[in-house]
Amino acid sequence: MIRSVLRGFGASLPKRIMKNREFESLVDTSDEWIVQRSGIEQRHIAGEGETTASLGEAAARAALERAGLTVADIDMIIVATSTPDNTFPATAVNIQNRLGMHHGSAFDVQAVCSGFVYGLTTADCYIRAGMARRVLVIGAETFSRLLDWTDRTTCVLFGDGAGAVIIEAVESEGLVSDRGILTAHLRSDGAHCEKLYVDGGPSTTGTVGHLRMQGREVFKHAVGMITDVIEDAFSATGLTSEDLTWFVPHQANRRIIDASAKKLGIADSKVVITVDHHGNTSAASIPLALAEAASDGRIKQGDLVLLEAMGGGFTWGSVLLRW
Ligand code: ACO
Repeated sequence: MIRSVLRGFGASLPKRIMKNREFESLVDTSDEWIVQRSGIEQRHIAGEGETTASLGEAAARAALERAGLTVADIDMIIVATSTPDNTFPATAVNIQNRLGMHHGSAFDVQAVCSGFVYGLTTADCYIRAGMARRVLVIGAETFSRLLDWTDRTTCVLFGDGAGAVIIEAVESEGLVSDRGILTAHLRSDGAHCEKLYVDGGPSTTGTVGHLRMQGREVFKHAVGMITDVIEDAFSATGLTSEDLTWFVPHQANRRIIDASAKKLGIADSKVVITVDHHGNTSAASIPLALAEAASDGRIKQGDLVLLEAMGGGFTWGSVLLRW
């Protein structure tokens, strides 16, 4: 059988770092409140000339370099984003062009904060179906451009950035000890669409709009949805939280991550945390966290790594892989 094995990873963050204290002159908030409620201390904010496509391109170039590959080796690009450079064409096509790639196919997926998990799962399906050999999967966002900077309940929580991975087709015996994506599970329920959404769009207001969130409502559903879809991954493979080497969750809020890990019995020492210095970068948060933990030597070949995300829609999902 064919498995999708991780071949490279890369990250890109805007130059400008914005500390919590800077919000104190914009809205009625404090560093203490933000740290205590979310675990966020700082985030990167895109400046002039930095866009979702430029950040995604830089992350993709880093992933290609680390893998020792060029675009000639890639036959598909999937970009997970809710903050595209343009309504169309897809940011994936923009990045394809920036990379000088003029073959294969490129398209975006939009599942908000679950976008990377959706994109990686889609790439895995193409690879296992024999329709692609190597796929570049990018999560790239500039949420700062969707924020209402007068709304203290949302503007303090998000940041910008991009992460990328390359997965490739490898023959496998299908054992849980073999490298590659072992199982993936996606869920959504549009009944919750008004709890986290953007109040604009080309077909309604003709504007870009601003992010609106009922934070307490999102919080209330998050842990249950996350743990359900992780239990799906465990029952599909017969593995348990004891078997995990690393848990790399979507980085929305430290309290959600801690509560999910506790409910699943995952030790704190196995959890990769970046929300403190990245904030919530939506679809970029998981590939950014993977790139950080793999480049500093924490995640090593053969490690069992669990990814999970939950976001607007609601959408949620998990991917269990052997690095
Ligand atoms: N500074 C100071 N006070 C604030 C701020 C702020 N930045 N924001 C809200 N408050 C106030 C509220 O107005 C409220 O005041 P009130 O009691 O007088 O009405 C009080 O703080 C408590 O507000 P809550 O919303 O109950 O605070 P909570 O503990 O729930 O924390 C938070 C808010 C951080 C938004 C939390 O609910 C949360 O993280 N929710 C999940 C959000 C999330 O994860 N979203 C992303 C997931 S999906 C995606 O990634 C796109």
